[in-house]
Amino acid sequence: MLVLGIESTCDETGCAVVRNGKDVLANVVTSQIDLHNTYGGVVPELACRRHVDVVIPVIEKAIKEAGISFRDLDLIAVANGPGLVGALILGVTAAKSLSLALDIPLIGVNHTKAHLYAAIMCAQKEVKFPCLGVVLSGGHTALLEMQRLGEYKLLGQTCDDAIGEAFDKAAKIMGLPYPGGPEIEKLAKKGDHLSYPFRAGTVKQNPLDFSFSGLKTAVVYAVKDRVLTENDKADIAASFQYAAFSDIIKKITLASLDYRTIILGGGVTINQTLREMCLSAFPGYDLIWPSKALTLDNAAMIAGLGYHDFLAKGGDSLELEALPTMAF
Ligand code: KG4
Ligand code: ZN
Repeated sequence: MLVLGIESTCDETGCAVVRNGKDVLANVVTSQIDLHNTYGGVVPELACRRHVDVVIPVIEKAIKEAGISFRDLDLIAVANGPGLVGALILGVTAAKSLSLALDIPLIGVNHTKAHLYAAIMCAQKEVKFPCLGVVLSGGHTALLEMQRLGEYKLLGQTCDDAIGEAFDKAAKIMGLPYPGGPEIEKLAKKGDHLSYPFRAGTVKQNPLDFSFSGLKTAVVYAVKDRVLTENDKADIAASFQYAAFSDIIKKITLASLDYRTIILGGGVTINQTLREMCLSAFPGYDLIWPSKALTLDNAAMIAGLGYHDFLAKGGDSLELEALPTMAF
């Protein structure tokens, strides 16, 4: 079954062609970083307009790269949430138009669940459920029990900033470009992670919940009224990253007792230091993450999960809505 996936939840426009939920024939992503960099973060209205400009060329490029024609497609999958509403509407409208024109079914896919599916798609062997799911992205930080594909129970989530958002905000405070995650990772390599005693928050009601806003405030105070040298910036970046990841490892440790497999997904999991910290913290576990190409926002994970969702529950109608928030 050939599935065309469309991704437009935030500042990436993606289109992919995936066979049977696994074989990626094409995975085209255009980023808007250049557009938002000046503002230090994503400007929703600008994001939406750029999606309008590039969505058709991106779809055409994916079809060409896959070496197929539109008539070969069996299903259109689109990320219909969570995300920026204007950006989502664009992708959903493109998907509906294709479904109608080609007379093939349409399915809406949960973008956050697709980040976890990206890891499953890349797994070398069959994934044994139940497992612990860890979503670390720009919009979400969550621990989930994955009972089977598509059936998840929320164990913990952030009470304030998402982890990627905390990286982006900390970077902005330090005067680094958007997106902040890769900038902090790069700088942190040159710094001493013990030079600032930063800590992420704990949440009394649920030890598996996260809180990163205090950590961000600690960075505000660390830079306040100072002219930072490159060494200072590297030390702050390293200490911030270490505090954030130590907290995540601590909470995965608490949550992972009942599982042997940990599935990680979302843009922040591209961070090499995080991957190394997890490998040394969880030696007896099967750790599964996406390939680099499928870690940041992409449409291959949307087409992949769309295939399984379609087999499980059939397609959606042309009434499919763009949903800025969506539960797991
Ligand atoms: O999953 P994603 O592509 O989009 C969302 O669904 O939100 O995640 C984007 C987030 C951004 O906050 C970005 O700063 C962060 O992932 N990120 C990183 C790295 N690369 C991207 N965070 C830490 N280290 C990185 N190398
Ligand atoms: Zn994402």
